[in-house]
Amino acid sequence: MAEGQGRLVAISNRVGPLNDEGKAGGLAVGLSDALKRRGGLWFGWSGETSEKGTFCELKTEVQDHVSMTTIDMSAEELEGFYFGYSNRSLWPLLHYRLDLAEFDRQSDRIYRSVNQRFASRVMPLLEEDDLVWVHDYHFFYLGSELRQCGFKGRIGYFLHIPFCPPEIFSALPASHDIVRALLAYDVIGFQTDTDRRNFVAFCIRELGGEKLSGQRVRVGDRTVVARAFPIGIDAQGYARFAVSPEAGEHEEMLHDLTRVRTSNPDADGDAWRKLIVGVDRMDYSKGLLERFRGFERLLEDYPENRGSAQFLQVAPLSRSELDAYVELRRELEEMAGHINGRFATLDWTPLQIMTRGFTRRALAGIYRAARVCLVTPLRDGMNLVAKEFVAAQDAEDPGVLVLSRFAGARAELEAGCIIVNPYNTDDVAGALQRALNMPLEERQRRWEIMREAVFSGTAAHWCDSFIDALARGADFDEPEASE
Ligand code: ADP
Ligand code: G6P
Repeated sequence: MAEGQGRLVAISNRVGPLNDEGKAGGLAVGLSDALKRRGGLWFGWSGETSEKGTFCELKTEVQDHVSMTTIDMSAEELEGFYFGYSNRSLWPLLHYRLDLAEFDRQSDRIYRSVNQRFASRVMPLLEEDDLVWVHDYHFFYLGSELRQCGFKGRIGYFLHIPFCPPEIFSALPASHDIVRALLAYDVIGFQTDTDRRNFVAFCIRELGGEKLSGQRVRVGDRTVVARAFPIGIDAQGYARFAVSPEAGEHEEMLHDLTRVRTSNPDADGDAWRKLIVGVDRMDYSKGLLERFRGFERLLEDYPENRGSAQFLQVAPLSRSELDAYVELRRELEEMAGHINGRFATLDWTPLQIMTRGFTRRALAGIYRAARVCLVTPLRDGMNLVAKEFVAAQDAEDPGVLVLSRFAGARAELEAGCIIVNPYNTDDVAGALQRALNMPLEERQRRWEIMREAVFSGTAAHWCDSFIDALARGADFDEPEASE
């Protein structure tokens, strides 16, 4: 904890783990990297349901100076709050997918009541000078509920996912209520400046607010700081994972798969197989179908890659109770079968999709074995996979990052990666071809640029700059990034 600053209390739906267990999700990874270093209290959902739901007993586990306190939800709360409002309404909407968003007043009611309940359960644990930091789209109302409970200290909020333009957000029946509730926070953080600008535009156009100097916005009598704080990873820690024995085993296993000369007569004489990897929760925002089409186009248009390009997609199942995710899984498996059926030979299967989780060390080994990492979301708040891939490479023979123009990570990595439009199949195929054939010297030059960004914009830096802004509150005054 920095001197003179109060204890940090983080509140999010998912809590932990702080160890190296496989856990798919950028929030849990970024926040545990930051909290491990600082210590504090982490409050949220236990991941369990019980009859008493949010009225249940608190459970506490202490690890690395972090006290993780959780509560259960009832089955009805889980359905209305998590599956319903958070993931059927807010997630698609904020990812610009109005076509997938569903709105109903029952889940709206439960979402608000769970926010209220979490606030009333955490309130007795708070001390006057705590810095409270609420995370993500599950808890838009939590800050204003804490104010209702009488908490007078600083409360910050960070949105891990995109904030869509006001033309889209205003379709949400409760859009005004949500943004008014957000104004109860002292500092509102976004992943990118685009997200921040969308939020400010909503305040101005829909609520009659005004933009003030120093990244502040005023609506009625409330003035809040709204600023971008791009999240990062513990880059040094991740680079150490990448040279661990567990990473080494995984890297070796994949090298054995690729240390095969291709039998394709169109390929370069002595070509070894080259590994392309993708690592994403199985989510429609990640652009997996479009990515598979891009790989298929690579094999169609650049036939020298048949037999020599090997695509491994790691895609742990996520939110599998929801129809949109069930449908996505079906389509992906169908498309993988189609591509393999069309191009496979007796000694080569072009595309492999795996839904299992890995430890962070094992994943680091997978990244390290890859010549190319494909990160092509249709929309993503930040995307930590892109940063992990960079941190896991070695200077001698680094891989190439192909990154979507719609990922938040673009702002920091674009000078070193190949940027693509994930909707443009030819563009994805062309980028893959370029990445697979990029000379070593260019790969090294590009990687150095990205490495610098990933090692300076870490989870610790993210956390410290947010806490610093929160501690300064209304005194925060910083020039706006250029538009
Ligand atoms: P999101 O938060 O939308 O899932 P991010 O790319 O920001 O996307 O974060 C995903 C995190 O989940 C990364 O830290 C990544 O390493 C981790 N992850 C993804 N797939 C797996 C897996 N199969 N096993 C373990 N961790 C995974
Ligand atoms: C994204 C969200 C997180 C969420 C994670 C995994 O990273 O920003 O809030 O925890 O996805 O999704 P899940 O629904 O399993 O928590």
